[in-house]
Amino acid sequence: MADFELMHFQEGHLLSATALSEAIGWPHRQSDWKMLLAFSTGVVAKRNGQVAGTALRSDFGPDLASIHMVIASPDARGRGLGRALMTSLLGATDRNIRLVSTRSGRPLYEKLGFQDVARLVQHQGTLTAAPEAIGAQDAQPRDLDSIRRLESQSYGGDRSALIEWLAENGELAVMRSRSDVTGFAGCRRFGRGYVIGPVVAQDVQDTKTLIAHHLKGLVGQFVRLDIVRNVDLTPWLADAGLFMTNQSPVMERGTIPAAPDRMAVFSQGLG
Ligand SMILES: CC(C)(COP(=O)(O)OP(=O)(O)OC[C@H]1O[C@@H](n2cnc3c(N)ncnc32)[C@H](O)[C@@H]1OP(=O)(O)O)[C@@H](O)C(=O)NCCC(=O)NCCS
Repeated sequence: MADFELMHFQEGHLLSATALSEAIGWPHRQSDWKMLLAFSTGVVAKRNGQVAGTALRSDFGPDLASIHMVIASPDARGRGLGRALMTSLLGATDRNIRLVSTRSGRPLYEKLGFQDVARLVQHQGTLTAAPEAIGAQDAQPRDLDSIRRLESQSYGGDRSALIEWLAENGELAVMRSRSDVTGFAGCRRFGRGYVIGPVVAQDVQDTKTLIAHHLKGLVGQFVRLDIVRNVDLTPWLADAGLFMTNQSPVMERGTIPAAPDRMAVFSQGLG
């Protein structure tokens, strides 16, 4: 019989959840967890009275959800806790699910029917120099409808609430053709510094211009960026001090019509 019990993830679990993710070397601050929980349904596993596991599911419209922050405490692994967390979140929805796997998560996700659809290439470091940025502009309130539309189309689900959060709590830059918004990039505080994403753009040149627009204010800061489209920005980012540190498979379960069509994700967890 299992020696843990599952319960609904509530605000009161945030401190323990932060300690759990810190213990396995993840950068999330308590405020990052709080933001994720605001967009999620979550479950925690308690063992010996302590939070020993977490998992969150964020629903983006009626068809698609993301599962993330799946953690079992190192001393509680291999006893079915990870599977129980996943099964609990999967069982409560008919949505197709997208997630980013780690090496230790892959066996579990494969057993649960997830398949590789793309690859996330993580870059990070202390920004040493900002590439030249000509052509992008700070987004204006009137751009928000276009940004919501571009974000939701490129993700494959309704991301309006996430864009509203970013407009209030971060920065948004846009590319325009005449008066139309053709691409955008977000930037916000996260973990050890800042994250740039999502980036939705028509081509590689626009992607660089949007990223560079945010980088110009971040020299000396720790910056992270997770590229998902099959474009090689690694040498260009390395010149600025942002090195490739990891690659992770994006996995999906269900009948998702297409892989995500975006240059960089909002975050590893939220896609
Ligand atoms: C991923 C993680 C949550 C799994 O937690 P766990 O409690 O050890 O998982 P479980 O005990 O439920 O095992 C899950 C399944 O994977 C299988 N498994 C685990 N490692 C395996 C391996 N190396 N090869 C084959 N199967 C493996 C187990 O046998 C089990 O299968 P079963 O349910 O059919 O018996 C845990 O390893 C973890 O916290 N990793 C660090 C955080 C992370 O990377 N999270 C995932 C990314 S979001």
